[in-house]
Amino acid sequence: KRVAVLISGSGSNMVKLAEAAASEDFPAKIVAVISDKPDAGGLQKASALGIPAYALPRKDYASKAAHEVAILDALAELRPDYLCLAGFMRLLSADFIRAYHGRIINIHPSLLPLFPGLDTHQRAIDAGMRIAGCTVHFVTEGMDEGPIIAQAAVPVLPGDDAATLAARILTVEHQLYPQALKRLTAGDVRMEGGTAVFAEGVS
Ligand code: GRF
Repeated sequence: KRVAVLISGSGSNMVKLAEAAASEDFPAKIVAVISDKPDAGGLQKASALGIPAYALPRKDYASKAAHEVAILDALAELRPDYLCLAGFMRLLSADFIRAYHGRIINIHPSLLPLFPGLDTHQRAIDAGMRIAGCTVHFVTEGMDEGPIIAQAAVPVLPGDDAATLAARILTVEHQLYPQALKRLTAGDVRMEGGTAVFAEGVS
């Protein structure tokens, strides 16, 4: 299977997806990395890994719609079966998502449905949570609300601030996302009728 990864920043999750996909028994290949930010650190990392990397800066386009058309046109050339959002900080329109129905996944740094949106770690700390975590989910029209594919719980430790909690969760994201992508591209899970449907015998 062909996978394109969309990033906006450092791309640490993209690197882990690429490293996992490089092994023989992984049922997918990362065919490209696309960023909406020309200075995204992940673009250099992708190139260093030999993955075609494209910057499509939002500021180069007159509107959100025109920007999305540019991304869709680039993707049409790349023919990905799936898209992975990895630190991609834009909301995709319903039209864009429809074009890849059930084939876009995202990693979010909270245990959804708790703490959708931004500043998830500070919000978890402010709420007095003792457990936080991360979620891989199908991307649907609403923000951070698509069917959940995988989650991992991470303890909130005394004295944690947003940075220490974020770092602990990011390490777990780096294991959870490649695992989830492997299951998705192996056909062990798919989105059907608005829910994540798992193949027989998949735990
Ligand atoms: C990560 O916390 C991820 O959960 C969120 O963006 C952050 C940065 O990701 N989506 P990356 O280092 O750019 O992969």
